[in-house]
Amino acid sequence: MARDIREPVEPPVDTTSLLRFITCGSVDDGKSTLIGRLLYDSKSLFDDQLDTLAADSKAVGTQGQNLDFALLVDGLQAEREQGITIDVAYRFFATSKRKFIVADTPGHEQYTRNMITGASTADVAVILIDARKGVLTQTRRHSRLVSLVGIRRVVLAVNKIDLVGYDPAVFDRIVADYRAFAAPLGFEEIAAIPVSGLKGDNVIACSPDTPWYIGPSLLEHLETVEAGRETVDRPFRLPVQWVNRPNADFRGFSGLIAGGRINVGDTIRVLPGEGEAVVARIVTYDADLPQASAGEAVTLVLDREIDVSRGDLIVAADSPALLSDRLSADVAWMDEAPLDPGRSYWLKLGTQTVGARVVAPVAVTDVETGAVAAAPTLTLNAIASVEIALDRPLAFDPYLENRDTGGFILIDRLSNATAAAGMVRGALHKSSDVQWQALDVSADARAAQKGQRPAVVWFTGLSGAGKSTIANLLEKRLHHAGRHTYLLDGDNLRHGLNGDLGFTAADRVENVRRAAEAAKLMADAGLIVLVSLISPFRADRALARGLLPAGEFIEVHVDTPLAEAERRDVKGLYKKARAGEIKDFTGIDSPYEPPETPEVRIDTTILSPEAAAEALYEALNQRGVLNPAMAAFDYTI
Ligand code: ADX
Repeated sequence: MARDIREPVEPPVDTTSLLRFITCGSVDDGKSTLIGRLLYDSKSLFDDQLDTLAADSKAVGTQGQNLDFALLVDGLQAEREQGITIDVAYRFFATSKRKFIVADTPGHEQYTRNMITGASTADVAVILIDARKGVLTQTRRHSRLVSLVGIRRVVLAVNKIDLVGYDPAVFDRIVADYRAFAAPLGFEEIAAIPVSGLKGDNVIACSPDTPWYIGPSLLEHLETVEAGRETVDRPFRLPVQWVNRPNADFRGFSGLIAGGRINVGDTIRVLPGEGEAVVARIVTYDADLPQASAGEAVTLVLDREIDVSRGDLIVAADSPALLSDRLSADVAWMDEAPLDPGRSYWLKLGTQTVGARVVAPVAVTDVETGAVAAAPTLTLNAIASVEIALDRPLAFDPYLENRDTGGFILIDRLSNATAAAGMVRGALHKSSDVQWQALDVSADARAAQKGQRPAVVWFTGLSGAGKSTIANLLEKRLHHAGRHTYLLDGDNLRHGLNGDLGFTAADRVENVRRAAEAAKLMADAGLIVLVSLISPFRADRALARGLLPAGEFIEVHVDTPLAEAERRDVKGLYKKARAGEIKDFTGIDSPYEPPETPEVRIDTTILSPEAAAEALYEALNQRGVLNPAMAAFDYTI
C-alpha cells in the first residue's frame, strides 16, 4: 500500500518492524525515479495509482513506452513549484518483512530546514550519487546534515550505474572517495550499492549486469538494516502535557512517553523540581495498565502530592535527565533574519518553553568542507555549535541519547517564526545547581592592597609580531616599579592549561576563552595581567573584553605586516607553514582579523620593543592603573 501523506503515519502496531529513512539527492540524481521504482517493484501501489501512472507516463512521461516512475513522486514536486508549502513528503509502504516510512525532501540548499525536519526522525539515510558525477558538494552537505541530526547508518546508492556501463572501477572509486570524506562524520555503517532506478538494477533484486557486486539489493538492505536503538530501551521520560484534575479526588499527569518504560510501583522524579514519588496508577483512555512504554499516551497518578506542572519532565528517579540553565547545542539557523545574540528567543523543547539567548561568538561549520570558524552571528542555513543561556533551568537529554528530549526549536518572539532547529550536546558548567559563592574580600579590596588598579593588557597580532617580546619588557618595567603582575603567554599556556588544544578554529576559540577566564580571575585578584595570544578572531577578543568590568580590558594590537613577521621568522614556523609542514598557520592558511578599534596600536616597523613597552607603561599610568593614590583606597572586610 502506498499513499501520499503530509505527516508521518504512525504504524498500526509493531514498531520494531518499522524503518524510517530519508532519501537525499540533487534534482538530477534520479531520486524520484528510484523511490518510484522502490514503491512499484515492492508492489506497494494501489491499482488506481498504477493506472494513473500508466496514463501519465504515456501523456507526459520521459521514458517512451515505459513507465516513468519519477511521476509517482513528482506530483509533490509540482506542488512545490506552485509554491504550496510542503515541509517534507512522507510516504508509507510495506513488504512482508518490514514497514517503511520514507521522508522525501528537496535537495537544494534553501531546503536545508526541510531536510533537517525529515532527517530528525529517520533511522537511515539513503544518499544518492549519480555514477557519472561522483561525490558532489551536495553529497557532502547532505551527509553532514544527516550526521548532525544523529543518523548513524547510511546507504550510498550509486545510481545510474547502467550509464557508466556497469563499470566496477567507477563504483569502487566513488565508494572510496565517499568513505574518505565521511570518515570524520562518525557513521557506524556505510553500505554502498550500485543501482539503476531507471532499469531497476539492484533495487529489489540483484542484477545480472553487476556480477561483481555481491548483494544485497537496496530493498533487501532496507529490510534488514538495524533501525537504531529503540526509544523503549532508554531511561523513562514523560514530558507533562497537562495536569488532569477533573475533581478533588483525581490528579494525574498526562503526556506521551518520550523514552523508556514505566511500571506501577516505579519511583519517578519531577524535573526541574526535586520531588520524588511512586507511580500508583497508569491510566489510559481504555483502562489502567500495569506498564507502559515509549510512544504511548498515558496519565500517571502518583502516590503522594508533589509539585507537578505542565512542561515538567517526569523521569526515572535512578536515571534522571540533565538539568541546567546553560547548554551546548548544534543548531541549524532557519530564519531569513540572522541571529541577534543580544536578544531573547523562546526555546521550545518537548512541552517546555523558556526564554533563551544564544551566546556569541558561535562556531560555524562550513557544511561543504567541515571547517569551523568563530562568527558573531548566524545566517540562513548556517550550521553551528553554540552555547545557549536560559532564563530558568530546563530538563533535557543529549540529542544522541533521546531525540525527543534532546531536540528543540528556537522561536523568534516577535515574528513567531521558527528561527532554528537545535540538538542538545550537553549541559554546561553554569548549572543552576552551582550557585555563585559570595566572597567577602572584593576585587577592589585586593587591588587596593597592592596599590594599583587591576587591568588586562591583551596583546594580539600575528605569530612573530613581537607580542611576547613587548609583553615581557612591559612586565619587567612594571615589576621594577613595584607593581604586581602576571604574564599569560600563549605558548606557555599551551604547555599546561591549554595543552590539549591545537590550532583548528574551534580549538583557538577555546584557547582564547580559557586564557580570558584565567586573566579575569587574576584581575579579580588585583593583578595587572598581560596576555600575549595571537587570538585571531574578533569575536573571541570581544568575548574576552566582555568578561571584565568596563575599562579594565586594554587591547593592544601588535601590528606587524605579514611580510615582515615572515621575514623575521624568529621560530622558523613560517618557513615550515609555507612548506606545508604546519597546517592552519595564522596568516598563511588560517585567517587573522585585526582589531578595528584597539586601545593601543603598536607599529613594530617604526617602534622598537623597548620604546613600545615604555609607551604602554605610560598609557597604563595615564589610565590610573598605576595610580599610587589607590593605595589609600578605603576598603573594609
Ligand atoms: S591562538 O591563535 O590560539 O591565540 P596562541 O597564541 O595560543 O594561538 O599560540 C600561537 C603560538 O603557537 C605561535 O606563536 C607559534 O609559536 C605556535 N604555533 C604552532 N602552530 C601554529 C599555527 N598553526 N598557527 C599559529 N601558531 C602556531
